Amino acid sequence: MEEQQAQAKKLILSGIQPTGTITLGNYLGAVQNWQKMQTEFDSIFFVADMHALTVRREPSEFRQTALNFFAQFLACGLDPRQCIMYFQSHVRQHAELQWILNCNTYVGEASRMTQFKDKSAKHADNINMGLMDYPVLMAADILLFQSDLVPVGIDQKQHLELTRDIAIRFNNRYGETFKVPEGYIPTTGAKICSLQDPTSKMSKSDPDENATVSVTDDEATIVRRFKRAVTDSGSEICVREDKPGISNLINIYAAIENKSPQDVEREFAGQGYGTFKIAVGEAVAAKFNPIREDFLRYSADKKYLAELARDGAEKAASLAERTMRKVRKKVGFVAF
Ligand code: TRP
Repeated sequence: MEEQQAQAKKLILSGIQPTGTITLGNYLGAVQNWQKMQTEFDSIFFVADMHALTVRREPSEFRQTALNFFAQFLACGLDPRQCIMYFQSHVRQHAELQWILNCNTYVGEASRMTQFKDKSAKHADNINMGLMDYPVLMAADILLFQSDLVPVGIDQKQHLELTRDIAIRFNNRYGETFKVPEGYIPTTGAKICSLQDPTSKMSKSDPDENATVSVTDDEATIVRRFKRAVTDSGSEICVREDKPGISNLINIYAAIENKSPQDVEREFAGQGYGTFKIAVGEAVAAKFNPIREDFLRYSADKKYLAELARDGAEKAASLAERTMRKVRKKVGFVAF
């Protein structure tokens, strides 16, 4: 009975690139939702370190950042007894499937991806093959586990569409092999914008440190950054298109406190921007304080992290291998 119930659960899978630290945007847009979903679904969450290599990284710093991400997963409440969590680079099948999918993806399709075009413009000195192949690796991540649902931000929707196209094409050519996944764009967790330029998304790679806050920041830092947050002219605390700064702060407060933006408008009606900014900062700090403490504890315990990572990779590899055995046979590789 229990077995049957377990099988009836849908499988969700998602990953995040280890650059910088988990920001408020990543937390509200992704990791907090993962944490909530892990009991309802069979879930797989990984540190997408192979994806991160499309940009040049200093190796020792990269290694530390990736390890810290794993510790931040735990600190944010991902529970290795509930979900499978691991490093992408520890499971060889990702790269293996990517090659096979490469041979079933057209250069035209990959080069039309918006993110590829944007990133090529931004890193004109390093338009490497990996940058163009990024969405095919993502397709491999997803299809490897026969995922039902893939929680992604709106910026990854096009990659998910490509994944579906590749899966359908492969299934047509070789016979039913992959489950065709659905995107899962969470309704909660509005898009969180930069504290310094509230018309653009909060980004881990923003060079202006005042633009973001992270789960690993201490209270004083968080409150200071919110005090410095760019706001708009006028004094009314309300969500409005011509008030991107205040709207962003309202969305943040609402998401942290689990309230609607309208509730927040009512709560702060008649109050000044200054008071509101401090209230938002304090709410975020209250949420992140225990996460930061857990992060410090976990990241000091390398042995524990190593054990969990090894265990996660083993579980992931054994699931991935089921798909790969099918795939190798379908494409006609010799097997004895
Ligand atoms: N490309 C995703 C991002 O930048 C991260 C990612 C890698 C991912 N592989 C994935 C997300 C598979 C979902 C499923 O946000």
